[in-house]
Amino acid sequence: MAEQHQKLKTTIAVLGCGDVGATLAYTLLLKPICSEVILVDPKTALLEAQVRDLADATYRGNTGTKVKAGTHKDAGQADIIVITAGAKQKPGESRLSLLSRNLHILESIFSSMSPINPHAVLLLVANPVDILTYFARELSGLPESQVIGTGTSLDSARLRGKLSEKTEVSASSIDAYVLGEHGDSQFIAWSSIAIGTTPLRLALPESTTEEFRKEVADHTRGAAAAIIASKGCTAYGVANIAASICKYIMYDQRTIRPLSFYQPELGCCLSMPAVIGRKGIVRPMPIVLNSPEQEELEKCAAGLRAIIEGAEQ
Ligand code: 2OP
Repeated sequence: MAEQHQKLKTTIAVLGCGDVGATLAYTLLLKPICSEVILVDPKTALLEAQVRDLADATYRGNTGTKVKAGTHKDAGQADIIVITAGAKQKPGESRLSLLSRNLHILESIFSSMSPINPHAVLLLVANPVDILTYFARELSGLPESQVIGTGTSLDSARLRGKLSEKTEVSASSIDAYVLGEHGDSQFIAWSSIAIGTTPLRLALPESTTEEFRKEVADHTRGAAAAIIASKGCTAYGVANIAASICKYIMYDQRTIRPLSFYQPELGCCLSMPAVIGRKGIVRPMPIVLNSPEQEELEKCAAGLRAIIEGAEQ
C-alpha cells in the first residue's frame, strides 16, 4: 500500500518562504493540487515557523495536502519546483535592478539542488523573471519546455481586471494578453483582445483611442510599483498566478496562458501564449500581432538580449 501511495504522491517544492513563497504555499494547501508542499529556505528559524504556521491550516477542512520543511536536495526531486527566492524590489526600484543579486542566488540554488528530477517542471517567479528563466534553462539542464516563468500572466490578469471595470463584463469572459517582458517593455496585444466573442474595438469603441490605451497600459505596467510603494511588496496576485500554473501542470489541463519561456527565434525568454500541461509547455500558441505590436515584441526582445549578454560577460 505504501509503495502504491508513494507512486501517487505529487510534490511541489517552493524555494523561498518570504511573502510570495509563503502565500503560494498557503494557496497550494487550500486547493487539491498536490499531496505535499515542501518549503525550502536558508533562514531556518523563519522556515520552521512558516511550516508550523502553515501546518496549522491543514488540520481541518483541508484537502489532505501536507506541508513540510525540506532541503534543496528534496526540492530537486519534486514534480514542480517553484523558485520565489531572491531579493524583492524596493519602492522605486525596477525588477531588472535585482538581476545580479538574484542570478547569484539562482546559481547557488541549482548547485544545491543538483541532480534535478529530469521530469520536474521549473516555475520561476523571482524577478527579473524573464532573465532568470533564461539562465535557469542552462543551470538546470532541463528541456526548454520544462522551464517556465510566470511572466506576463499576472500583467494579463491585471489588464483583464481593468477591462472588466471598463466594460462591466466579468474578467473571466475577457481574453486579453500582455506579452513580452514582465517589466517596463511589456506591451498589450490590443488587436486580439475579445470581450466574449466581440472584438474590443466593437465592444468598447473608446478603446481605440490613444488616451484609453495609455490609461490602461500605464495602469497595468505600473500596478506592482503602486502596491510596492504602499506595502513594500506584492504577493497575493503572483502567488495566485503561480498556484494556477501549478494546477494546469499537475492536472495536465492544456490551458492557454501567456508564460515566459525560451523563444528560439528571438534568442531570449519572454511571455507569449502557450498551451501548458504536465510536461510544461506543450506547444506555443501563435498569436497574430499587427505591425506596431510586432515592433514592440522585437524591441522588447532586443532589450532582454542586451541584458542577457551583459550578465554573461
Ligand atoms: C509583480 O508584478 C513584483 O513582479 C511582481 O507583482
